[in-house]
Amino acid sequence: MGGKNRICSILHSPMSLLFNLLLLQCCTATNNITLDRPLSQEQVLTSPGQNFELGFFRPNNSSANQYVGIWYKNITPRTVVWIANREKPVTDSLASLTIGSDGNLKLVDGLHDTLWSSNVSAPSYGSVAVLSDDGNFALKDNISGDNLWQSFEHPSDTFLLGSSIGFNTKTGERRVMTSWKSDTDPSPGSFVVGLAQRSPPQAFIWKGSVPYWRSGEWDKTNFIGIQQLDSSYSSMFDLIEDIEQGTVYLISNPHNQSDFEKMIVSWMGPLKLTFWEDQRWNVEWEAPKNPCDVYGTCGPFGVCKASESPICRCLKGFVPKLDGEWRKGNWTGGCVRRTELLCEGNTSNEATDRGKADKFWKMDRMKLPDFSQYKNLDYPIPCQQWCLDNCSCKAYATIEGIGCLVWTGNLTDMQEFSFGGEAFFLRLAPSEFAHERLREKLIISLTTISCIITLALGILIYGLHRKRSQKISEETKISEDLELAAEIESSSEILPSYMLRSHLELEDTLELPIFDLNSILIATDNFSLDNKLGQGGFGPVYKGYLPDGKYVAVKRLSSTSGQGKEEFKNEVMLISKLQHRNLVRLFGYCSEKEERILIYEYMANKSLDKFLFDPTKRAELCWAMRFNIIQGVARGLVYLHRDSCLRVIHRDLKVSNILLDDKMNPKISDFGLARIFEGTQYLANTHRVVGTLGYMSPEYALTGMFSEKSDVFSFGVLLLEIVSGRKISTSYFKDQHLCLLSYAWQLWHESKEMELLDEALADSFSSSEVKRCIHVGLLCIQDYAEHRPSMSTVVSMLSSETELPQPKQPILFQSALKSDRSESNSIWSTGQITESVLEGR
Ligand SMILES: *[C@@H]1O[C@H](CO)[C@@H](O)[C@H](O)[C@H]1NC(C)=O
Ligand SMILES: *[C@@H]1O[C@H](CO)[C@@H](O)[C@H](O)[C@H]1NC(C)=O
Ligand SMILES: *[C@@H]1O[C@H](CO)[C@@H](O)[C@H](O)[C@H]1NC(C)=O
Ligand SMILES: *[C@@H]1O[C@H](CO)[C@@H](O)[C@H](O)[C@H]1NC(C)=O
Ligand SMILES: *[C@@H]1O[C@H](CO)[C@@H](O)[C@H](O)[C@H]1NC(C)=O
Ligand SMILES: *[C@@H]1O[C@H](CO)[C@@H](O)[C@H](O)[C@H]1NC(C)=O
Ligand SMILES: *[C@@H]1O[C@H](CO)[C@@H](O)[C@H](O)[C@H]1NC(C)=O
Ligand SMILES: *[C@@H]1O[C@H](CO)[C@@H](O)[C@H](O)[C@H]1NC(C)=O
Ligand SMILES: *[C@@H]1O[C@H](CO)[C@@H](O)[C@H](O)[C@H]1NC(C)=O
Ligand SMILES: *[C@@H]1O[C@H](CO)[C@@H](O)[C@H](O)[C@H]1NC(C)=O
Repeated sequence: MGGKNRICSILHSPMSLLFNLLLLQCCTATNNITLDRPLSQEQVLTSPGQNFELGFFRPNNSSANQYVGIWYKNITPRTVVWIANREKPVTDSLASLTIGSDGNLKLVDGLHDTLWSSNVSAPSYGSVAVLSDDGNFALKDNISGDNLWQSFEHPSDTFLLGSSIGFNTKTGERRVMTSWKSDTDPSPGSFVVGLAQRSPPQAFIWKGSVPYWRSGEWDKTNFIGIQQLDSSYSSMFDLIEDIEQGTVYLISNPHNQSDFEKMIVSWMGPLKLTFWEDQRWNVEWEAPKNPCDVYGTCGPFGVCKASESPICRCLKGFVPKLDGEWRKGNWTGGCVRRTELLCEGNTSNEATDRGKADKFWKMDRMKLPDFSQYKNLDYPIPCQQWCLDNCSCKAYATIEGIGCLVWTGNLTDMQEFSFGGEAFFLRLAPSEFAHERLREKLIISLTTISCIITLALGILIYGLHRKRSQKISEETKISEDLELAAEIESSSEILPSYMLRSHLELEDTLELPIFDLNSILIATDNFSLDNKLGQGGFGPVYKGYLPDGKYVAVKRLSSTSGQGKEEFKNEVMLISKLQHRNLVRLFGYCSEKEERILIYEYMANKSLDKFLFDPTKRAELCWAMRFNIIQGVARGLVYLHRDSCLRVIHRDLKVSNILLDDKMNPKISDFGLARIFEGTQYLANTHRVVGTLGYMSPEYALTGMFSEKSDVFSFGVLLLEIVSGRKISTSYFKDQHLCLLSYAWQLWHESKEMELLDEALADSFSSSEVKRCIHVGLLCIQDYAEHRPSMSTVVSMLSSETELPQPKQPILFQSALKSDRSESNSIWSTGQITESVLEGR
C-alpha cells in the first residue's frame, strides 16, 4: 500500500505513457483525491457502492473540450449530474484534478493554469476530496472531517437527493441550477432554477434574467402554484430557513427511494423530475408543461386557463389594454381596469355609489399572482378588512400555512386550474357588482340564442359526420342532442365555450384523449368474447388493437355508475393525473350515450393471478420477482395514499388487480375508480364495486369504515398470497379450517413461517427476505386499523433490516369462519361472508 502510494506521488506530474499506465493500475479503485494522489485524465474515482464515477469526459465527440464531471456508473448513455469546469474546458491532455497547496480542489492544465477551483478557505495542512454514493463530491478537512466544500451545494443542472438550492441574504450567495447550453455543450445555458428572495419564498425558472416559470408561494409543505388537489399531498422537498444566518435552502425530502431519481433543468427550459427505468429516463413531472405555466403569458390582470380557447381572458372588471393586439393573440399587454375603484376616485362622482365600499370578487382554483406581500396581522383583523382599509390593496387571499397575502401592484401570472389551486379575492368597484345581475341575464339570453344557433349547426355537422361513420337512426341522434340542449338551457350557469364545443364536436382541449365509441368497437371487434381479458371489479376488460398498431386494455365500466358526462369526465381527468411507475397508465376515455369506457396501457403479462394460481406458471415467479412485485405494489400504494395529488384509497386491492408488464414489474389497476362509483351504486352492488371479500379489513366488513389502513389490510392479504401461492378464498390448512391469515400467524408464532412459502419456489430465495415479508404481512392484517403500519412504513420495513414490532394474532375473521364451517368452499365468495359476520355480531 505504502509502496503504491509512493509510486503515485512520483507520478503525479505525468511524464510518460508508461507511468500513466502504472498510475492507472495503482489507483483505479479509489474514491478520493489527496494532496499526493491527484486525478489524471485517464483515471476515474468510483464511489464505494459503485453508484457514481468522477472523471474527465468529452460531451461532444468532435470537439477537443473535456470537462470534469460526475456521472452514474451503470447508466448508459452517460448521464452527467455535475460538472466542475463548465466555463473553462480542458483542451490539452496533461490536466489533472488536484488538491492545491492552499488545500483547495483545483483543476490545472498542462501549463499549470487553474481552470477551476473550489475557492474556499481551507487549512493548508491537507484536505481530502471524496466521492460518495449519493453522488456528492466533498472537500473535507483531513483532521476534523468537516465538509469545506461540496458539489451538492454547487449544483450544475441536476438536483439529486441531497442537493440544495437557495440563497443567503447575508453573504449574497445564490445557489442555483443552470442548464447546459445545448445537448453537447455543458457551458452555462440560459435557464436558471433557484429560489427568489420573496417572502414567502418561491422557486423560479429564469430565462436569462426574465422569469420563465414560477412555483407559487411555499406554504410550509408545498409550493401552492403547482397544481395539486388537496393539502395532504406531500412534497418531495423541504424548505429550510435560518433567519439568523439569513439562509433559505430548498432540499429534497428524503423519501428512501432506492431508484435513480433526479431533477434536471433541461437546456430547452423545462424543469423535469425523472427516474431511471426500462433503460431510459422517464419524466415523472415537468414544468412549465403548457403555455399557461409560462410566466406572465396573459400579461398584467390577465388570467390563463389551459383548457379554454383562447387561453387568456381579462379579470372580471378589466378590459384588454390593446384590444387589437389582444384579439390577435398577443396578450402581453394585459388588461386595464374598466371602472376605477371607489376608494381611488371622487366619492362625489357617482351618486349611486355613495356610502358604499369596494367589494371583493371571489375566484376559485387559482394560481395566485406574483408579487404577493405577506401581512402579519398581529391582532385579529381579517385579511379582507385590512385590504379594504388600504386603497393600494388590489386583492387578497388567505392561505393555510401562510396566512394573509395581499397584492398592491399589478396582478401578473395568474392561472385558473381545473382542480386544486387557491381562492383569490379581487377588489372591484361596487358598480361592477350592481350591473352584475342585469349583465348576467343579458349574457344568459345571448348565450342561449347563440347556443341554439351553434346547436343547430352542431347537430347538422355532427349528424353528417355520424351518418358516415355509424349507422344510427336520426331519431336517437336528435333526441340526444335535444337532451343536451335542454341540459344547457336548464343550467343556470353560463357554460364556458369549451364545454359546448366538447359536447358538440366530441373533442377536448385537455391532455387526455377522448376515443369515439366507434373506434373502440372496431378496436375490440365489438367487444368480442375472444378479446375479453377478464372481469375487473368495475366491469369487463377487453384487449383492443388501435389502428396505429398499439395494443390497449379497454375497460367497459358497468353501465350503472349513474354519472353524468361532465362528472365522469372530471373524475377521469383526476384519475389521469395519477401517474406512477407502479400504476397502470390511463391513455384515454370514451363517454358516449350510456357507455363509460376507460382505455389503459396494455400489460403483456396480464394479471398476477394468471401466474400465481396457475399450476405450471407459478414456478416462473421466482422469489426475486415476487419480492419485486411486493415492493412495487407497496410503492404504488404509498403514492396513492400519500404522494399523489388526490390521496386515493384503492378499496379493491387484490391479486387480479395487479398487472404485470413485460418485465414482470407490477402495476396496480382499478385505482381511483371507487371515486367514480362513490355514492352511486355500491350499496346495491357491494361485492363488485367496493371491495372483494377476503381482502376486506374487519372494520370495513363490520362497520363500513374505510381508511388507508383498510388498503394496508388488503395489501397484507395480497402479500401472504404472493408468498404462499395460495388463494385467500380457498385456502384451508391442516384440516383445521384455518384460513390463510390465521395459519400464517400460527406458523410465525411457532417460528415455522418458512413452511408457508410456496413449494413451487425451489431454493432460490433469501430466507431472511421471506421471513421479513411474512412478518410485515402479519403486521398489515392485524384486526385493529391503528395497529397496522402505514404503507410508507411498510415500504421501509420491507427494505431495511430494522427490528419489527410483534404482530397481534388476527382473531376476527377466524371466529367468523368457525361459525360457518360447513360452507367452507363458498364462504368467502360474494355476499355470504357479510351475512355470517353480521350474524356473529
Ligand atoms: C481514500 O482512498 C483510499 C484507497 O484508495 C482508502 O484507503 C481511503 O479510506 C479513502 N479515504 C476516504 C476518506 O475515503
Ligand atoms: C461519442 O463517441 C462514442 C464512441 O465513439 C459514441 O458511443 C457516442 O455515441 C458518441 N457520442 C456522441 C454524442 O456522438
Ligand atoms: C461539437 O464541436 C464542434 C467543434 O468544436 C462544433 O463545431 C460542433 O458544433 C459541436 N457539436 C455540437 C452538437 O455541439
Ligand atoms: C473566489 O474567487 C473570487 C474571484 O474569482 C474571489 O473574488 C473570491 O474572494 C473567492 N472566494 C473565496 C472564498 O476565496
Ligand atoms: C491526513 O491526516 C493523517 C493523520 O493526521 C496523515 O497521516 C495524512 O498524511 C493526512 N493526509 C493528507 C492528505 O494530508
Ligand atoms: C430511511 O431509511 C433510513 C435507514 O435505512 C431510516 O433511518 C430513516 O428513518 C428512513 N427515512 C424515512 C423517511 O423513512
Ligand atoms: C405584442 O404587443 C406589445 C404591446 O403590448 C408589442 O410591443 C409587441 O410588439 C407585440 N408583439 C407582437 C408579436 O405583435
Ligand atoms: C373629483 O371631482 C372634481 C369635480 O367633480 C374634479 O374636479 C376632480 O378632478 C376629481 N378628482 C379626481 C381625482 O378624479
Ligand atoms: C397600504 O399598503 C401599502 C403597501 O403595503 C403600504 O405601503 C401603505 O403604508 C399602506 N397604507 C396605509 C394607509 O396603511
Ligand atoms: C406592472 O405594470 C407596470 C406598468 O403599469 C410595469 O412597469 C411593471 O413592470 C409591471 N409589473 C410590476 C410587477 O409592477
